[in-house]
Amino acid sequence: MSPGVPLPISASTRLCAVYGFPVRHSASPAMQNAGIAALGLDWRYVACAVRPETLKEALAGAAAMRFLGVNLTVPHKLLALDMMDVLDASARRWGAVNTVRFEGQDASGAWRPLGEVGDDAVSAIRMQGFNTDADAIIRALREDAGVIAAGARVLLLGAGGAGRVAALRLAVEGVKKLWLVNRTESKAAEVAKEILAADPAMAGRVQVGYPEGAVDLVLNATSAGLKPGDPLPYDTARFDPSRAGAAYDMIYRPAETPFLGEARKKGCRTANGLGMLLYQGAAALEIWSGRTAPVGVMRTALWDHVYGERTHA
Ligand code: ATR
Repeated sequence: MSPGVPLPISASTRLCAVYGFPVRHSASPAMQNAGIAALGLDWRYVACAVRPETLKEALAGAAAMRFLGVNLTVPHKLLALDMMDVLDASARRWGAVNTVRFEGQDASGAWRPLGEVGDDAVSAIRMQGFNTDADAIIRALREDAGVIAAGARVLLLGAGGAGRVAALRLAVEGVKKLWLVNRTESKAAEVAKEILAADPAMAGRVQVGYPEGAVDLVLNATSAGLKPGDPLPYDTARFDPSRAGAAYDMIYRPAETPFLGEARKKGCRTANGLGMLLYQGAAALEIWSGRTAPVGVMRTALWDHVYGERTHA
């Protein structure tokens, strides 16, 4: 799909937004506005600096102004759970909301995306919360790192917020074996316990510690690599990336962390976390519009925003 020229802003233009704090670094407006223009929608997507203590009011304000959708980023994803009128299965399962759809009740009593109900025909407005982050991990692994998570042997580094969701999602996907490593080992053990409680069939397939042999994927979900001089997120005496077919880093800035650089030198297929940002955004646009997101256009806009134009690999 071609990039598309944005429709001029008029009295018909509808709004979407990302709420976060801080938010001025967000690449979502560049990516979403490119997708919106390519679909020919008369919408705009803006970034709003919303403090957590005003999240409730900010959501109510968007509903009152008949925004179509909102994305939530740090620090709102958990807080928003209790503020939604309805939670989609994805938000319930992963315990976090990153996408809100505003819905209007029409004359027949049915709830529909707000943009599909005429202003005068809306008798009530509600917020439905979704989570598109977890599925984006699986899609990014497949499309950007060539790894089919189902049946794969995976070493996952990190058991913080991102690592926990990745571990739970990989287990649901049916990985063959999952090794969990975290600087603070007790947190990896907690995540393993949570996986086993949700699915006893994972017994023997999830383990805290390093693998003995080869793995299909090593996945970095720690924040090590974000800052210059950060250490590698694994113990080099216990693991070497030459034992992995592919390496994925959830970090995308810098484009190549020491973890990914080392993996590339040792012959792994590598990909950084930009794809996760892309696929969660594409899924959000699909939830709001009911259309297939123009992923190629959104990827280019995202890449240009994050790394600068004319740097495409
Ligand atoms: P996020 O939401 O990005 O996952 P988080 O919940 O703060 O952020 O988790 C950060 C993760 O990076 C944790 O797994 C953390 O390990 P600890 O649980 O031991 O704190 C990991 N991490 C941060 N700095 C690290 C480092 N220098 N080496 C290894 N792991 C690191």
